[in-house]
Amino acid sequence: MPKLNEHYQDLKESYLFTEIAHRVAAYTAANPDKKVIRLGIGDVTLPLGRLALEGLHEGVDAMGSAATFKGYGPEQGYDFLREAISAYYARNGVTVDASDIFISDGAKSDTGNISELFDTDNVILIPDPVYPVYVDSNVMGGKKITYLAGNAENGFLPLPDPAFHADIIYLCSPNNPTGAVYNKEQLKVWVDYALANEAVILFDSAYEAFITDPELPRSIYAIEGAKKCAIEFCSLSKTAGFTGTRCGYTIVPKELVFTASNGEQMSLHQMWNRRQCTKFNGTSYIIQRGAAAVFSEEGMRQCHENIRYYQENARIIADTLTKKGIRFYGGVNSPYIWFECPQQMESWEFFDYLLNHAQVVGTPGAGFGENGKHFFRLTSFGNHENTAEAMKRFDELF
Ligand code: MLT
Repeated sequence: MPKLNEHYQDLKESYLFTEIAHRVAAYTAANPDKKVIRLGIGDVTLPLGRLALEGLHEGVDAMGSAATFKGYGPEQGYDFLREAISAYYARNGVTVDASDIFISDGAKSDTGNISELFDTDNVILIPDPVYPVYVDSNVMGGKKITYLAGNAENGFLPLPDPAFHADIIYLCSPNNPTGAVYNKEQLKVWVDYALANEAVILFDSAYEAFITDPELPRSIYAIEGAKKCAIEFCSLSKTAGFTGTRCGYTIVPKELVFTASNGEQMSLHQMWNRRQCTKFNGTSYIIQRGAAAVFSEEGMRQCHENIRYYQENARIIADTLTKKGIRFYGGVNSPYIWFECPQQMESWEFFDYLLNHAQVVGTPGAGFGENGKHFFRLTSFGNHENTAEAMKRFDELF
């Protein structure tokens, strides 16, 4: 009989969005005549931009001719995409070496898989509330987590306690689920703390394209010293509508070198490269062609047309919450709006209430951690009509 990884027993029964899908499926089965509006999982609804599509088509066509056909590609991703991403960072004022960029099928896999590079014996600091993948992947590995409270007092932007030592720190900005964004000064506090503690920051910037305020950092590498202490994850899912197409990237600077217990130097870049070469055969050439088109200036302009559309949804949601006097976070430099559940309800209770009385699906804050227990997340990724209808129902309910 195999001995199983019993740490799986320590996980919650099901993944947050699976649980939501089950509850919604049960409701729609029992109420087939009701129109349910989904503002729960952050899944995009607009089609891909024209240039991204053209890139994908070019990729498909290349597969049809012996002269351009592609078999296995480089595990790290094709240079044309790595360079396009590096140029995109440069346009945003941040220098990233193309050879530090690893292309993947999305930030979810990479933020989950990165924990393999670290021993079980680390002090892992994870803000609460948080994207559940960071937590679950560490629980699966039997790792102990220390939580850092994000709450209304700190604007859901917790900062480190200088008296506490951490080895690994997860940060997400713009934040999923709260929509809060660290400014440069706050992010510098984290970078300085990580350098002082010889810690590594695992920085998820999947929502950077939603930042409209030019003063806010879109990459941790906008902060001096970050290349010595931070890995950055990013994704085309929300930037370019690739939730179904799948493409992301992880930046592991070569400067990230630490001393092993035998005194030898170990490079996180080399370790991640080794891991990817062993376990990953690269993202499809076709997808990488589409992705490279996204990072051109015109491709990004097209992405921003869609982003502006979603931002209008966020405004509709925010206006309703403001009208109702409900305190909320995010929605400006982020596609998520995070608000206090009305009538002091707990978040799963509010989830059921909203589904049953308004047929609107959101995400209960408790699914993101203890500090989300009285909060709720709505996404701006729906269409205008549904978002407006959902908020009209919300308005009538409270
Ligand atoms: C979310 O709704 O939090 C995200 O869509 C989940 C993800 O990106 O995996």
